[in-house]
Amino acid sequence: MSQSKKERGILRYGWFSRLNHWTIAISFVLLVLSGLALFHPFFWGFTALFGGPIMTRILHPFIGVFMSVFFAIMAVRFFKDSLIKRHDIQWLKQIKDVLSNRDEKLPPVGKSNAGQKLVYWIMVFSVPVLLVTGVIIWQPYFADAMPITLLRLGALLHAFVAFLAIITLIIHIYSGIWVKGSFQAMVRGRVSKAWAKHHHDLWYQEKMDEERRRKESLDRIAGQ
Ligand code: HEM
Repeated sequence: MSQSKKERGILRYGWFSRLNHWTIAISFVLLVLSGLALFHPFFWGFTALFGGPIMTRILHPFIGVFMSVFFAIMAVRFFKDSLIKRHDIQWLKQIKDVLSNRDEKLPPVGKSNAGQKLVYWIMVFSVPVLLVTGVIIWQPYFADAMPITLLRLGALLHAFVAFLAIITLIIHIYSGIWVKGSFQAMVRGRVSKAWAKHHHDLWYQEKMDEERRRKESLDRIAGQ
């Protein structure tokens, strides 16, 4: 392998995953800003970002549907890496070590740690609930045809689940800032071997095994 290829590190997120993730991230932030503006007069100022209150009301549900489509793609693609394993439970039990930066005491984890997996599963729960309840209360298209009790329940659940998703997003962004190198992974796609080994040792071992097997089969072909 050439030196320059070695320096590129390990691919963590391909271009499609990154583009998809940032499309969701931007849409989600727009949803939070427009949603808060519709939720309480304190956030009314945010309507200026969307061309006024009427445009905010029109745009919010359309951005929601747009984001849900891209999120569905992400949910399928990240499903396997987000399944909870035994070492994840141990990682969660040692959450004090996580928060105190005692990384050396933590069990090795795969491509995502238990915190990242929880973000995934909370969003897998939240986005469909937000979509369904959002459609129920969507005026003028669907809300008029709904019974009043369903409308009330829909509005309540929409607000509660949005709160859960916003708190989760804040924790998600904070973790990305806290774990140095995470942003680089989602911006450039590649991480250094040292970073992979330190933060996601099982995933690093998997990648090294793959690389060794690929090299062995190339050597075999070259030897024939
Ligand atoms: C401004 C908003 C966001 C920022 C700054 C952000 C940042 C990041 C970063 C840096 C990573 C890479 C972490 C790593 O591999 O170590 C990541 C991964 C990920 N993001 Fe986001 N993200 C944002 C919004 C979202 C939203 C709205 C969702 C879902 C609705 C989401 C879902 C995910 C998932 C499932 C992963 C992969 C597993 C994980 O690292 O948690 N992100 N994000």
